[in-house]
This record gives sequence, C-alpha cells and structure tokens, in this order.
Amino acid sequence: MKKIIVTGGSGFIGSNLVNYLIRKSYFVINVDKLTYSSNKLSTKIRKKKNYKLIRADINNKKKLTNIIKKYKPKAIFNLAAETHVDRSIDEPKNFIHTNVNGTFNLLETLRFLKKRKIAPKLIHVSTDEVYGDIQIGKRTDEKHKYEPSSPYSASKASADHLINSYVRTYGIKAIISNCCNNYGPYQFPEKLIPKMISNILNGKNLPIYAKGMNSREWINVEDHCEALFTLYLKGKNGESYNVGSGYNLRNIDLVKKILKIFKLMNLKISSKSKIKFVKDRPGHDFRYALNINKMVKKLKWKPKIHFEEGLRQTILWYLNNKKFLKKISKKNYENRMGLEI
Ligand code: NAD
Ligand code: TYD
Repeated sequence: MKKIIVTGGSGFIGSNLVNYLIRKSYFVINVDKLTYSSNKLSTKIRKKKNYKLIRADINNKKKLTNIIKKYKPKAIFNLAAETHVDRSIDEPKNFIHTNVNGTFNLLETLRFLKKRKIAPKLIHVSTDEVYGDIQIGKRTDEKHKYEPSSPYSASKASADHLINSYVRTYGIKAIISNCCNNYGPYQFPEKLIPKMISNILNGKNLPIYAKGMNSREWINVEDHCEALFTLYLKGKNGESYNVGSGYNLRNIDLVKKILKIFKLMNLKISSKSKIKFVKDRPGHDFRYALNINKMVKKLKWKPKIHFEEGLRQTILWYLNNKKFLKKISKKNYENRMGLEI
C-alpha cells in the first residue's frame, strides 16, 4: 500500500484530504499538532487500518525525520498551518511559528533526507491571498507578483518563497498550490460560511464586515482535494498552480444565499438571525480572483461542484452533524477578533 503523509490532517481541508486519499486506497499518516481548529471527530471515526494519527508539531525535526524514515511515504501534503486572518491580526507570532518556521523546518528535514535518498516530494498548500487585492475584472495567474496584506498572507507568502528557494538551491522536490476560499464539511466556524450557518442554527446575528462588498472566489473542498491529488500525480516539480473555481461572490450576496437556502429547505430562522454590518477588518483585501488556465490546460483538472449545490450540501452536513458544532462551541471563537490596531 502506498503511503502519504498529510500534515494538518485534523483540520478542515486536511480532514477532507485524508478521507479522499483513504478512498483512493492510500495509507495515510496524519501529522497534526491538534490546535484549536482541529477536530478529533473526523479522525475518531476513522479507526481504519490504513490510517495513523501522530500528534506532532511540524517544527519538531527529530519527530518528522523519524516518521518519514519509518513510513517512507511517496509524498507529504503540507496543510499544517495557522489559517484565520483575524487571528493573525491579534496574534501574528503563532503564524510565523507554524507557517514560516514550520515550513522551513519541513524543508530542512527534506534537505537532510535527500542526502540519504529518502526524501518524499512535497505538495505545499498555499493560498490566493499571497497575491493581495485584485481589481474587479482581473484574475491573477501564477506569475503575478506577491503582495500579501495580512500577517496570515505574509506568512504564507514567506513559506512559498522558502520552498522555491529550496527547489532551486538544494533540488528539493516540491509543488505549490495557491487555492481560493474553500467551503465544505469540518470547517471551524470562525470562517465566514460555517460561522453564518452556525449563527443561524443558534439564533444569533450575522456579522458582516463593512458593507459586505468584499468578494471571494469559492471552491468546494472536494474539488480542492482532487486538484491536490492531480498535482501529486501530474504536477511539474518546482512549479506553482492556481486552484480555483472562477466563481466569485460578494460577502453580502453569499450570506443572503445562505439565508435563502435555509428558507427553501423550510428550516427555522430566528428573528435574531439578521444581517448586522460591523466594523471592517484592518487591511481587509477587497477581492481575490484566480486565473486557473494552467491547471485546466496543462493538468486537465477542473472543478466539478456547482456552488449552489455544494453550499446546500454543506448546510445539510452542518445540520446533520450538530455534534461537530457542539463540540467546537467549547473552544473560544465567538468573540470578534482582529480589531486590534
Ligand atoms: P485549519 O485551521 O482548519 O487546519 C489547520 C490544521 O493544522 C489543524 O488541524 C491544526 O491542528 C494543524 N496545525 C496547526 N499548527 C500546526 C503545527 N505547528 N504542526 C502540526 N499541525 C499544526 O486550516 P484549513 O482551512 O484546513 O487550511 C489548511 C491549509 O490550506 C493551510 O495551509 C491554509 O493556509 C490553506 N488554505 C486554506 C484555505 C481555506 O479556505 N480554508 C484556502 C486556501 C489555502
Ligand atoms: P474568512 O472566512 O475569514 O476568509 P478570508 O478572510 O481568509 O478570505 O472571511 C471571508 C470574507 O468574509 C472576508 O472578506 C471577511 C468576511 N467576513 C465577514 O464579513 N464576517 C465574518 O464574521 C467573517 C468571519 C468574515
């Protein structure tokens, strides 16, 4: 059985990727520090023979080296990260620790193991946020300059630069994906879509930053997993690939869509669950939008899931998995973050 390491496999995208790879008959080793955004629920149900969870920080070189030596995986998908922009405004240090130093440590481990000819290739998951604000009407290709705005996106940009330097200088095998906003099961409800669903289910108001005119490109997490698997199979070493859907929505329109789906499904909406315009996020990027021609033309990948249907399925998932939200509600995420200047 082929083995793959997924770091951050107990987080949102990681959980979905672990499930995806197990369905593809891989043995998956999940290396996760189990921070606040991880969920044990998704790993507990996987008492399968072809899955192993190892609690570890990607900054722990000794542990990473031993895991790679023991399992000899074909690849490492790196999804271990601090991921919430608002948190990065309050506590940037954690973002440097994991996203910059953690990636650096992973690269150093691979550099050491390359000399022993046992270094697996790295599929590193980055973001469209490294490109910064994109004007209406434009879409960024992979050659676009990096102009990160938040400590989160700056930490992700730093990691991408480090990876590219290790490919060029040391011959490390690595591919980067720059993906747009994901939605789907197991997402921690500090992020826009699960937060709005959770607030409607709990009869709370729906806070929208500024007037909700900011726009994001949305991809279903399942499409993202398929893109990552495509990169593992067919991606060219040392290259970056944009992974997106081409589907942009302003935040206000997205929240209205969620409310509409609740109504169409005859689900109860409390009179308290109304849109509330709140103070804007400092440094808030207005729009992200990717040009995905490289993935489509060179690797023959394209997203399959229609946004409205994916959103409906996502709402249904949270409804049918109230245990997930209940468990997570014990963790501190409900207070507004990221206003500190
Ligand atoms: P998440 O916050 O849901 O999960 C992150 C996981 O990483 C958690 O399980 C956490 O415990 C683990 N982790 C954190 N620090 C760690 C460390 N030092 N060592 C080991 N594990 C650690 O995040 P997500 O939304 O699943 O994002 C995964 C990756 O995808 C990140 O690199 C993120 O930047 C990128 N990304 C996310 C999106 C999105 O919309 N969610 C879009 C583009 C790119
Ligand atoms: P978020 O899910 O934090 O992802 P990112 O900032 O990484 O794109 O936010 C998505 C958009 O939604 C962003 O423009 C900020 C906005 N937003 C709100 O308006 N209200 C909220 O409560 C949250 C969490 C986000």
